[in-house]
Amino acid sequence: MEAIKLENVKKNYQTKDECIHAIDDITYTFQYGKFYAIMGHSGSGKSTLIQCIGLLDIIDSGKIFIEGENITTLSAKEKNKIKNEKIGFVFQNYYLNNTMRAYENVMLPMFINKKFKSTDKKARAIELLKSVDLENRYNHFPKELSGGEQQRVAIARALANNPSIILADEPTGNLDEKNETGILNILKELAEEGKCVIVVSHNNTIYNYADEVIHIRYGKVVSTDNES
Ligand SMILES: Nc1ncnc2c1ncn2[C@@H]1O[C@H](COP(=O)(O)OP(=O)(O)O)[C@@H](O)[C@H]1O
Ligand SMILES: [Mg+2]
Repeated sequence: MEAIKLENVKKNYQTKDECIHAIDDITYTFQYGKFYAIMGHSGSGKSTLIQCIGLLDIIDSGKIFIEGENITTLSAKEKNKIKNEKIGFVFQNYYLNNTMRAYENVMLPMFINKKFKSTDKKARAIELLKSVDLENRYNHFPKELSGGEQQRVAIARALANNPSIILADEPTGNLDEKNETGILNILKELAEEGKCVIVVSHNNTIYNYADEVIHIRYGKVVSTDNES
């Protein structure tokens, strides 16, 4: 089933003396139950693309459909609803709240969502931490956790509202090989469970996980490798 469709998407950054075509006419369809890797050199537009898909940024032209709905024309409020309910985002630098314990970080997105009763939130957070093998670290603060553990907390947080789409921008960029494998295995499992998982990477290890690898250069899709 179709999760996301990009149709002639363009995004420019206007600086004082030039217009950068960060996304330059990308058309692509992402399905549920698949793991996608977006690869390309630094500056090729990977982060811009995944942020636009994740409604963290707006496009200049073209259309983005999520489950067939054109989200480009929605109001900010409607976009926020989709962002909170359907999309989980994982960043290279984890972006955990350092003053909150692991389970409190995971609970955070549940507060913007009416789906969970307040009494259920903590139990659900601990359950999610268990799913990323961190049940014995649920009470730790981020600074008491390793990089790999912090990223697993961030993944649990991304899963808080049970999104169907997981977007990750270089999630293993700061991790060693062992932790990288752990994170990529978790993301792969999420795709196998039926979610649409899109991971930005510039490490070839991703080939062992991805169903499709999308290479981008100067904001354009230059090639795709379909592994399945
Ligand atoms: N806020 C911004 N203002 C101006 N230019 C930007 C901004 N963000 C990104 N860019 C430029 O857009 C291009 C794509 O950036 P980015 O999407 O971050 O690439 P990648 O993630 O592949 O390294 C780069 O040339 C970058 O310098
Ligand atoms: Mg980037």
